Amino acid sequence: MSDRYMDFVNSGIGQSIARSLGFPQPVKLRRYEHGVDFIDGDCLMGAAPGSAVIESVAEVLKKSRSNIYVKCDSPQTKALLALDGLGARDVDVTMPDSLQAVVFDASGIRSSDQLKELYHFFHPIMRKIRASGRVVVIGRTPELCGDPKYQTAQRALEGFTRSMAKEIGKGSTVQLCYVAEGAQSNLESTLRFFLSARSAYVSGQVVRVSKAELPDALNWELPLSGKVALVTGAARGIGAAIAEVLARDGAQVVCLDIPPAEDDLKKVAAQIGGAYITADITAEATPQQLVDYFTSEHSGLDILVHNAGVTRDKKLANMKPQLWDMTLDINLSSEERINDALLEKQVLNSGAHIICVSSIAGVAGNRGQTNYGCSKAGVIGMVNSMAPLLLEKAITINAVAPGFIETAMTAAMPFGPREAGRRGNSLSQGGRPVDVAEAICWYASPASAGVTGNVVRVCGQSLMGA
Ligand SMILES: NC(=O)c1ccc[n+]([C@@H]2O[C@H](COP(=O)([O-])OP(=O)(O)OC[C@H]3O[C@@H](n4cnc5c(N)ncnc54)[C@H](O)[C@@H]3O)[C@@H](O)[C@H]2O)c1
Repeated sequence: MSDRYMDFVNSGIGQSIARSLGFPQPVKLRRYEHGVDFIDGDCLMGAAPGSAVIESVAEVLKKSRSNIYVKCDSPQTKALLALDGLGARDVDVTMPDSLQAVVFDASGIRSSDQLKELYHFFHPIMRKIRASGRVVVIGRTPELCGDPKYQTAQRALEGFTRSMAKEIGKGSTVQLCYVAEGAQSNLESTLRFFLSARSAYVSGQVVRVSKAELPDALNWELPLSGKVALVTGAARGIGAAIAEVLARDGAQVVCLDIPPAEDDLKKVAAQIGGAYITADITAEATPQQLVDYFTSEHSGLDILVHNAGVTRDKKLANMKPQLWDMTLDINLSSEERINDALLEKQVLNSGAHIICVSSIAGVAGNRGQTNYGCSKAGVIGMVNSMAPLLLEKAITINAVAPGFIETAMTAAMPFGPREAGRRGNSLSQGGRPVDVAEAICWYASPASAGVTGNVVRVCGQSLMGA
């Protein structure tokens, strides 16, 4: 559905009216286009003294075609100016007119008084960050820091990045990436995602990257080449977008939906050169059907996307038991049963990725959605509880929690709640199904082997649960 308010405020007269009345001014977000570099403009990097991740950051940035600038306060950042292949410039000597991307390694901040490094680095450049710009702050996973003062200082980075995300404006985003000791080489997929247009509707998020074995060669053009993926609820909406983007990135996609959705499902599968299965995920026979399918038609499954979901909203006092049961069964229990069967029969290959679609209602709760909020919070619980258990199989499990996404479901909402949903986030607009799909493709990449147990909200930093 088109966002007429956004079109209006992006016209000359609309812009000045919105500004003078203090109304939200959503910016048209830049999204991924084939052939555009993962950093589409000038990039600045810096580090607090004693930070240990900056060299790995530089190794990633030098693969982009952008001009790299270094803010030279610490010995680490000074050393980067001499780094072979980076071609970095000292920002104190030449300052670019605008910055597309900024990466600051704060992993060396070990006490609260050193948090001032954040102020020193960011204060002078805030107005230089251009529309749809990207900021990534790097830290050390607080709960692994040991020393309480170090842990405290690293945890403080969350409040800094989330607040900066709320004030940066112009469609720009700010994220925090906690990297465990020894996991520097696992950072690349997350850094590429957060710095690129693929993360257009993700802001104010915190991701933990841990150490994991990576494949010898990574294909950044077609990262999912040779991988087999299953997407449930793929006949329309977010599921159809997930199937399309997984196929764009090279995966062989199997689309699943209920029998009444077969016509639409067939079309989605045909468009992407994929296959399809009609099944109800809550049916008793479905887990075994999937086991049989992926063992006979493929040599196992590499990417499992639990997207199918329903809302059956009623206030708890008015809710019939069947609405409760149906919502919980589709959104949560069936996912558990499918996971159990595929794991028990070893259908999920080593290095596989399980990706669940939760919701911000599962983070914050929502009036009239006790059943839905309960199911989607359960999905987060499933991710948290299964991530450590799956480590020995090298299988990751993560979730996305979408906010207001422009789909048939949200188009059918009454005007008031729809406008509140659209504007009540830092980007003042709704997201698109492709935004959820891009986050899922980042989780699904072989380069994301160190990304597990995370829940990333694709909600433009919604005020709900923020
Ligand atoms: N649209 C949003 O704003 C939004 C926000 C947060 C979370 N989500 C979540 O994203 C997911 C997709 O949402 P959407 O907006 O695309 O919804 P949608 O209703 O457009 O699509 C859901 C699909 O799941 C299928 N499905 C439902 N029950 C099924 C079952 N038992 N077995 C197999 N397939 C089944 C439906 O037929 C449909 O094709 C859901 O899990 C939803 O809860 C959506």
